[in-house]
Amino acid sequence: MDQTPLLAARDLHKTYRKNAIAVPVLRGVELDVQPGEFLSIVGASGCGKSTLLHLLGTLDKPDQGDIRLEGRRIDNLPGEQRDHLRNATFGFIFQFYHLLPEFNTLENVLSPAMIGSSVLNWLVQGRTLKRRGMELIERVGLGHRLKHKPRELSGGEMQRAAIARALINRPRILLADEPTGNLDAETGAEIFGLLRDLNQQDGLTIIMVTHNLDIVAETDRIVRLAQGRVEQPQPV
Ligand SMILES: Nc1ncnc2c1ncn2[C@@H]1O[C@H](COP(=O)(O)OP(=O)(O)OP(=O)(O)O)[C@@H](O)[C@H]1O
Ligand SMILES: [Mg+2]
Repeated sequence: MDQTPLLAARDLHKTYRKNAIAVPVLRGVELDVQPGEFLSIVGASGCGKSTLLHLLGTLDKPDQGDIRLEGRRIDNLPGEQRDHLRNATFGFIFQFYHLLPEFNTLENVLSPAMIGSSVLNWLVQGRTLKRRGMELIERVGLGHRLKHKPRELSGGEMQRAAIARALINRPRILLADEPTGNLDAETGAEIFGLLRDLNQQDGLTIIMVTHNLDIVAETDRIVRLAQGRVEQPQPV
């Protein structure tokens, strides 16, 4: 019997409209993601990989179709509920890190936990969260850069900080958009190694967009987007 997928997209459509021009991007995407999978999404530039990741992570809404988390629909939740679910369920990492420039490493890592927290809650939980933040920073190999601001870090170090930040709220699913796209091959391989450890040791489900074919080959499954749909695997 089939397991209920952790995340399932059905018939996803998304069209961007700009200056009265409609750009259809997704035209019926079907995708099931099982718990513990490490999936890579590939496809030509502009085919809609980032768009799909944003929809899956409820950062944006599809025009048609639905997205379910363990069978429960999540794409049409009211704003606040969606924000709450997103914060608790998904971690995001991006090609350009998106760290806050005025925050140091520890503050950046703690920022998603602070956003959802009242002052009172922060007073009660702050110490625990700080400890968790420091553990995560150690885990990603950045323990010696706690007080550094992003501009004082290398690209690989910024991505490590961004990974620690993505994990602070204990997400079930990590969505990574070209996490090695801006790094040299060796640093990219280190960052990928970190993601693979999180997947294998911690069972974290990862959906990663990448152009790096060496990395793609080491993930559990490859999903190819073309013409706004997931290509069906060709029989060999
Ligand atoms: N906010 C937006 N408004 C209008 N058009 C958009 C918007 N975001 C993306 N697009 C268009 O939608 C298409 C898909 O964009 P998307 O960023 O999902 O592609 P991608 O597969 O991630 O590409 P890349 O590999 O270059 O990152 C592109 O043609 C892009 O120009
Ligand atoms: Mg993209």
